[in-house]
Amino acid sequence: MDRKIIITNDGSTTIHLPEWDEQYHSKYGAIQEAKHVFIKNGLSLFSNDVISILEIGFGTGLNSFVTFLECERRDLTVDYVGVEAYPILTKEIEQLNYVSALKADNFSAIFAKMHQQEWELKNTISEKFSLTKRKQFFNEITDDNCYNLIYFDAFGARVQPELWTEDIFKIMYKALRKGGVLVTYSAKGSVRRAMQSVGFVVERLAGPPGKREMLRATK
Ligand SMILES: C[S@@+](CC[C@H](N)C(=O)[O-])C[C@H]1O[C@@H](n2cnc3c(N)ncnc32)[C@H](O)[C@@H]1O
Repeated sequence: MDRKIIITNDGSTTIHLPEWDEQYHSKYGAIQEAKHVFIKNGLSLFSNDVISILEIGFGTGLNSFVTFLECERRDLTVDYVGVEAYPILTKEIEQLNYVSALKADNFSAIFAKMHQQEWELKNTISEKFSLTKRKQFFNEITDDNCYNLIYFDAFGARVQPELWTEDIFKIMYKALRKGGVLVTYSAKGSVRRAMQSVGFVVERLAGPPGKREMLRATK
């Protein structure tokens, strides 16, 4: 599918899919969305010795990089797994402006390393941050009782309704530990009900700029 790099309203880049009229992040601000949905309403809940995170849709690496920066800031230890079936290309990675937009020039080598590392292997990105990228379809995930936190960042239900179903949320529920949390930018009623029907307790929270609400589901 054709992919185009565009600039969102907070000045950070994202990828646009013309065929679906869909983006990898909010048009109102990619970084703003990542920080609000996944850091403020997800990672901020945790301070345990090692926080294990599963990302649904590694994509541009923005969420993993923002998580790394937050770990540096809060001195957290994170074991991060990013699942992605369609990795982006080097020429696309080179057009992403996350290092400069996040004023993280000291860590430009870290962003590069996240993309350059081999798939399927657990890599030490820094002393306190390990990353495993798995080239896999979401419906093939079989992890059981592994994660504290899931960043559920699939494309929207308008274009990939099959990824917002009970079957998928069952897989997510199983992958989480008890007390674990899934956060997503979506606030659709049908998504909330699918989460509830597999056992999640679901909260509606204020969304990032441009979106009224988002969802947080707890096991
Ligand atoms: C909204 S984007 C993720 C954005 C990403 N979290 C980031 O920070 O850039 C959704 C991602 O899911 C991937 N994807 C779509 N369908 C998939 C599937 N069935 N299994 C695995 N990955 C899929 C896409 O290639 C895309 O990278």
